[in-house]
Amino acid sequence: MGAQRPDRGRDKASVVVRGVSRVFPGDLRALDRISLEIHAGEFFTLLGPSGCGKTTLLRLLAGLEVPDAGEVEIGGRAMAGVPAHRRSVNTVFQSYALFPHRNVRQNIAFGLEMQRVSPAAIARQVDEIAELIDIGALLERPVDALSGGQRQRVALARALVNEPAVLLLDEPLSALDAGLRSRLQVDLKRLQQRLGMTFVFVTHDQEEAMVMSDRIAVLDEGRIAQVGSPQAIYERPEDVFVARFMGHENLLAVTRHDAGGVETALGRFEGGFAAGTHLLLRPEALTLHADAPPGSSGNGFLARVEECLYRGAATDYRLRCGEVPIAARVTNAGRSQPGVGDTIWVEVAPDSAATLNARRHTG
Ligand SMILES: Nc1ncnc2c1ncn2[C@@H]1O[C@H](COP(=O)(O)OP(=O)(O)OP(=O)(O)O)[C@@H](O)[C@H]1O
Ligand SMILES: [Mg+2]
Repeated sequence: MGAQRPDRGRDKASVVVRGVSRVFPGDLRALDRISLEIHAGEFFTLLGPSGCGKTTLLRLLAGLEVPDAGEVEIGGRAMAGVPAHRRSVNTVFQSYALFPHRNVRQNIAFGLEMQRVSPAAIARQVDEIAELIDIGALLERPVDALSGGQRQRVALARALVNEPAVLLLDEPLSALDAGLRSRLQVDLKRLQQRLGMTFVFVTHDQEEAMVMSDRIAVLDEGRIAQVGSPQAIYERPEDVFVARFMGHENLLAVTRHDAGGVETALGRFEGGFAAGTHLLLRPEALTLHADAPPGSSGNGFLARVEECLYRGAATDYRLRCGEVPIAARVTNAGRSQPGVGDTIWVEVAPDSAATLNARRHTG
C-alpha cells in the first residue's frame, strides 16, 4: 500500500513538545514540564507504568486535551488553537471506540470516505490493510460481534488506512494473545518503516518497546526519566526507576567510588565508572564458572546457586552471595551448567556493569 497514493503518508511530520504540563482538578500533575523532540518518520515510544501520563500526552498531541503550560508543534506548525480534526494525526485509542452500527469494512473505510476517495480505491485499500492485520475474514461482520482482540485490530486498521503524517497508538496490542502480538509488533514496525509515518506508540511493556522503537521515552509520574535508543535505555539506564522498569534486579549500592573502581556489598569492581549511587550488573553479561578461572584477577564474586529456571533458549539463575540475591541469565548452547547448591565464580565482564543514580530528575 502507499505506492499508489504519493500524496499522503509522505509528508511525514516531526512532533515537538516544549515544557508541557497538564494539571487535573485536585492539583494532580498528570504531566509536569515535559519536553520531547520526535523526528519525522521515527518510531517513538512512551513507556511507563499505569498512571504516569502516557494517555494524557497522546491526547495533548491529538488535540483532545489542552496543556496548562507549554506548547506542541506538529510538522513545524504550532498547534495552539488547532482543533483535533485539523491536525495531521490519527489515534488508535486505548478503548478502541469503533462505530457500533457499522460493520468492520465500514469502520475501516470511514476516514477514506470523509476524504472522498473513490469507492473502488477504498475497497482496495481496506482489503489490503485487512489482510495485513489479519482481519480479512471479518470484514462484513458487525463490530458488536467481535472479540476484544479483533476489535483492537479493526481500530488499528481504521487508523492505518488513512496514512496520517503522525499516528498515535495507545497500547494498540494489549488485548492480543502473545503469538499475534509479537507478529503484529514486527508487522507494524515494518509498515511504519515502509510508509515513513511518524509513530508515537504507548506501552507499559518494556520488551515491546525495545523490539519496536527507534527511541523510547520512559515516563515516571508525569516526568521524563530518560530518552534514548532501546539499547541505551536497557544497558545504560540513568536512574534506579528506569533500571527497575526495564526489568533489572541487580542493583548494588555503591559504598565508595574512586578513579579505579567502586566498592559494593559484593566487593570491589575495577573500572572507570562514573560517579553514581548504584552499580548495575546485567544478568546476561555475567559468566558462571565452576571454579575461579586460574590466575583470574578480574572482576567477580563467589555465589551459591539457589534456583535454575530453564526457559528453552536460556536459563535464568537465582544466585546468592552472602545476603545479596543476584540474577544471571545464561544462553543454553549445550555446555554443562551449574546446578542448584553449587558454589560458583561469577565473572563480571568490564562492559557489563554501569553506575547509575538513585533518582536523576528532581524539582
Ligand atoms: N480527565 C481526567 N481527570 C482527572 N484526572 C485524570 C484525567 N485523565 C487522567 N487523569 C489522571 O492523570 C494521571 C495520568 O493518567 P493517564 O491516563 O495519562 O495515565 P497512563 O499512563 O495512560 O496510564 P495507563 O497505563 O493506566 O493507561 C492519572 O493519575 C489519572 O488518574
Ligand atoms: Mg493510558
